Amino acid sequence: MKELIITSKVTIAPYTELCEEEKKLIDLAKNASKGAYAPYSQFKVGSAVLLENGEIITGNNQENIAYPSGMCAERVALFYANAKFPDIKIKTIAIAACFDGEYTERISPCGSCRQVLQEAENRYKSPIRVLLYGRNEMYIVESAKDFLPLNFSF
Ligand code: THU
Repeated sequence: MKELIITSKVTIAPYTELCEEEKKLIDLAKNASKGAYAPYSQFKVGSAVLLENGEIITGNNQENIAYPSGMCAERVALFYANAKFPDIKIKTIAIAACFDGEYTERISPCGSCRQVLQEAENRYKSPIRVLLYGRNEMYIVESAKDFLPLNFSF
């Protein structure tokens, strides 16, 4: 019998330590959260996706009275980026959330969004950097693989 220990790396840093490009991405994700349609949870999430050609696509969560028909902010932005620029690599995604009028501490993408991030990494054969905004500190993950070890592939 063998054991496999799988580790994930997360860098924790204050906003002030990010480069200007990443600060801008975070700011856009925070701003996008304001436009979320979240009448059922009141939990507003924004995301901003930076592509290799410099384009930035933002998204936010879109809820539905038939709950499972809604969509997370991350997938709204990732799918739109893939739809609009199918041949361009995704470099980075920033995610921020707002509840009760205040930005929250960092949130992590749900399982379905992790799977979609993983697919984008595989599709473009390039790691996607993930910036999780938190009021006090950012969590920075260098690849979707860190969120989804032993991911499905064949
Ligand atoms: N949500 C996101 O948009 N992204 C996440 O990473 C976590 C959760 C949304 C889904 C739902 O509209 C609301 O937040 C509450 O779960």
